Amino acid sequence: FPIHKPEEMDWSFAGPFGTYDKAQLQRGFKVYKEVCSACHSMNLVTFRTLEGAGYNDAQIKTLAAEYQVQDGPNADGEMFDRPAVANDHFPSPFPNSAAAAAANNGAAPPDFSLIAKARGVERGFPTFVFDIFTQYAENGPDYIHALLTGYDEQPPEGMEIAEGTHYNPYFIGGKSLAMAKPLSDGQVTYEDGSPETVDQYSRDVSAFLMMVAEPHLVDRKQTGFGVMIFLILFSGLVYLTKRKVWANAH
Ligand code: HEM
Repeated sequence: FPIHKPEEMDWSFAGPFGTYDKAQLQRGFKVYKEVCSACHSMNLVTFRTLEGAGYNDAQIKTLAAEYQVQDGPNADGEMFDRPAVANDHFPSPFPNSAAAAAANNGAAPPDFSLIAKARGVERGFPTFVFDIFTQYAENGPDYIHALLTGYDEQPPEGMEIAEGTHYNPYFIGGKSLAMAKPLSDGQVTYEDGSPETVDQYSRDVSAFLMMVAEPHLVDRKQTGFGVMIFLILFSGLVYLTKRKVWANAH
């Protein structure tokens, strides 16, 4: 039973001039917060990272303060909870991976800090050669979107689905996974009039996870473009210099 190829989506951050769509990232954060964060941690990510989604300092402070994080030990050697600040990391829904696995049929939900870079389907030769020129690096978000929208198909005849797992032809690990379909239409309320559909939620949360995994993507692309222009001009100069220096050589 072959694993289906994710559909290639039209991401705002694709290509050499790509940028994040801040409104989309804020919707994606809402989906993470209201749905995914019940199971998936984001251990390496600080609240400060939400700057990348267009929140200012005051908004980040307010958002962080909604969470409780553990601190300590205090003078009496005890751990205590306090509201989070911008430099704290997102607290995990489970105390450790054993507890996470126990709550999910033995499969711990993977941490989301780098998931958009950690997943993706290999594109094979010769596609990956062209990918260098188009700067295709969106197979992570393409995969997450495909996985989240890929639950509604029936397993092909003759396929056995292990108990406690759910058929999904896009799952990289093969046929079925321990995560049940997490999203349904209308589940998360959007204030900006965007469609409240599984497809839109999946695009938004995938874009958000890309920003979390690669907060400096836009800077990197802009710097890279400048560097390419410089190198082209510099090559021309070096060539002209060489012609001049060697003009009388016999
Ligand atoms: C696995 C995304 C919500 C439980 C995964 C994977 C992704 C993902 C990308 C990795 C699949 C892979 O290994 O290739 C999401 C998103 C969510 C969400 C974007 C919110 C929209 C949830 C919720 C739960 C959950 C609410 C728990 C009720 C799991 C589990 C796995 C998993 C147990 C491991 C599956 C396995 O390896 O068999 N999820 N998830 N997820 N998720 Fe979620």
